[in-house]
Amino acid sequence: MRKVTVVGAGMVGSTTAMRIAEQGSADVAIIDIYGDLARGKALDIAQSLALTSSASRVEGGDDYRLAEGSRVAVITAGFPRQPGMSRADLMEKNADVVRKVVASVAEVAPDCVIVMVTNPLDEMSYLAWKTTGWDRHRIMGMAGLLDGSRLAYFAARELGLTPGQVQPTVLGSHGDAMLPLPRFTSAAGVPLSELLAPETLRELAERTREGGAEIVSLLKQGSAYHAPSACAARMVRAVLEDEGLQVAASVLLEGEYGLRGVFLGVPVILGEGGWREVVELPLSGEERKELEDCARRIKERMEELDGWLAGS
Ligand code: APR
Repeated sequence: MRKVTVVGAGMVGSTTAMRIAEQGSADVAIIDIYGDLARGKALDIAQSLALTSSASRVEGGDDYRLAEGSRVAVITAGFPRQPGMSRADLMEKNADVVRKVVASVAEVAPDCVIVMVTNPLDEMSYLAWKTTGWDRHRIMGMAGLLDGSRLAYFAARELGLTPGQVQPTVLGSHGDAMLPLPRFTSAAGVPLSELLAPETLRELAERTREGGAEIVSLLKQGSAYHAPSACAARMVRAVLEDEGLQVAASVLLEGEYGLRGVFLGVPVILGEGGWREVVELPLSGEERKELEDCARRIKERMEELDGWLAGS
């Protein structure tokens, strides 16, 4: 059977592994610096499969040979942001982890597709691309799909619909440079911008932008993992099944939307081998300006990472 590796056996990693195993679309390897943690999670997941029709095998440990021949690697290894930790501190801590993890995966699974989940997302996706030197289509960051599913949930509640009836579009970056687009978000086929007042749209956008932080403050410990793992597993399935699924993901732009050399959340078509193409939405002048502003902010962070890499 095909294989998917999940690096990081924490909350996001283990729930992603569980979802992939339940889909039954691939064997799953879970790798963590704490081998027993990964082994324990793998056993627990494997023992749940008797209640499903899945034939997936699930293994865990700290040895990267487990990842040999994987079609897709989902990277969730790293540290969560602690109170008082700056974004730059988080970037340096996780850059160190991600660089090592990605190099190890690339050695044993040289043909895989990488789905980056570790934050800060765009910078870590860029780092994966730099570390591997792979074709840009094989590296993508999972954020737009998650931000979109949050927007779909909030909009559906507002409209009395089910979340699945809302087709969201959220571009830009995870966090402050996120760009929810109501004109390109439809509810039962109608653009959100025609269904809700501008003030309500602003509130929905703000709550989406703060969606992760809202959950962190409620959980008290750790961060969201149910929705993030659902999104990562969905992207994995689209690649494994060569689906041609359109989702927003952080990818390296080389001229699309008039932008170059920046990892930015845009709609892409997913299939075998990663993302096939960027879908260019007919943005208004104002929307384009906002996207360019997001890109400028991310580029500054990528340059910050370059500075750290040069000095490390
Ligand atoms: N190699 C392998 N695994 C590592 C390494 C490493 N060098 N360093 C840390 N890890 C593992 C930890 O041991 C831990 O099990 O990464 C896992 C991270 O799990 P959690 O702390 O539970 O974090 P989680 O909530 O899963 O989030 C992981 O996803 O959504 C993002 O912002 C989130 O960056 C974070 C990532």
